[in-house]
Amino acid sequence: MDRHLFVVLGATGDLTSRKLLPALYDLMRDTDDCVVLGAATADLGDEGFRKQCVEALVAEAVAAAEAEEWVATHIFYERVERDGDYRELARRVEDLERLLHLPGNRVMYLAVPPDVVPVAIRRLGDAGLASSLGWTRLVVEKPFGRDLESAQTLNHLAHLHFGEQDVYRIDHYLGKETVQNLLVFRFANPIFEASWNRDRVERVEITVAESIGVGSRGRYYDETGVLRDMVQSHLTQILALVAMESPTRFTPQDVRDEKVKVLRSIQPIRPDDVVLGQYQGYREAPGVDPASGTPTYAALRLSIDTWRWQGVPFFLRTGKAVRRHETAVAVTFRGPPVCLFHGKPDDCMSAGNVLYLKLQPEEGFSLVIEVKEPADMFTVRRIPLHFSYTEAFGEIPEAYETLLADVIEGDPTLFVRSDEVEEAWRLYSPLLDGGLAVHAYEAGSWGPEEAMALLGGDLWATGG
Ligand code: BG6
Repeated sequence: MDRHLFVVLGATGDLTSRKLLPALYDLMRDTDDCVVLGAATADLGDEGFRKQCVEALVAEAVAAAEAEEWVATHIFYERVERDGDYRELARRVEDLERLLHLPGNRVMYLAVPPDVVPVAIRRLGDAGLASSLGWTRLVVEKPFGRDLESAQTLNHLAHLHFGEQDVYRIDHYLGKETVQNLLVFRFANPIFEASWNRDRVERVEITVAESIGVGSRGRYYDETGVLRDMVQSHLTQILALVAMESPTRFTPQDVRDEKVKVLRSIQPIRPDDVVLGQYQGYREAPGVDPASGTPTYAALRLSIDTWRWQGVPFFLRTGKAVRRHETAVAVTFRGPPVCLFHGKPDDCMSAGNVLYLKLQPEEGFSLVIEVKEPADMFTVRRIPLHFSYTEAFGEIPEAYETLLADVIEGDPTLFVRSDEVEEAWRLYSPLLDGGLAVHAYEAGSWGPEEAMALLGGDLWATGG
């Protein structure tokens, strides 16, 4: 790993304390290769910021003495508020590099609210912080833009200062082991890949269900809504990995080329292919407009216009404050062409193998197959074959650890390319103008009634 300076803008925010610092600590505690320079508007010196960092690490179960030792030698702070402060930041970066004999490799991590991202990129560029003696990589959190037009503008701005190969757009779902495993599952197991098409698959459902509401993020969420917060990013990334063709080689370019092709093949989404909802009680959350029409739930039916997927519906759905916390992909295979063992034809219609790829919280998969019950009659039962990730491998690394290591190593495979982010916005932008009805649903339910009709049979409610 190259020695480098890891600059975090927005260093006093939630993302830094809950995700970035713990991940950097886990990755870097035994090395001097990484020095962190936090920057934010608060008037803190190095010591004030270090104190916050220790608290954040202790909250993540790091022993206080170890946290203090690491923080004292690896963490620095610079206040940035106005334009001119970025020049000061640039001076501090150079001073630290000189003092600590760093070779000029830099990560510029924007852990700032979406509306600050363009300003920060411009200021970094103007202050000369977009290039250095070594490499400089810009990391931007999702959502990247608010719609197609703003994403294009933001890409243009980023490219004025940074090469595309140095822009790392984070979608933390791509750092989850089980999401990455979708590629291995599909392209290392020919037994499934041979059936992964319109001849064998009846429908695909991608579910990201959250049992918690918006909590303390009301202000951000109310301006963002479920389509921007979850669908355009996490669900669309999972969809791309499930539906893409095999890349020629496992390189960043080949993998991302295939993902972009799938996104470009999705048919425009019609209003009757979407159901939006808002959980009851959302409007009382802190920071939320009491008359808010922001959706917290979405169910969508997508069609992919390719030889592989023509005619197979892909259902996406996600919601806050629903009954269970679960992220899963359910692939329902077509039933047998002849109904030998079921008494009634209707039973046969519903019979078919289902593969549940469970991304969280119980990572693994189960494949539902039909078996004969031990009895003298031919009674057929559906049972799941299980594989559990934690049983096989123990604890799974945090997504941010994987992604930060990739930024530092310079591997962009798990990051979203500029054309990819634009294609994803192109899909959903027509749905973002607030013209669709938003149906109320009870917190702790499976979402609005209207969604059940769209989904046409609900695997979510029945388990897997
Ligand atoms: C974030 C969204 O990107 O992902 C949140 O902004 C959401 O609204 C979160 O709760 C879910 O992530 P995870 O890793 O907990 O499934």
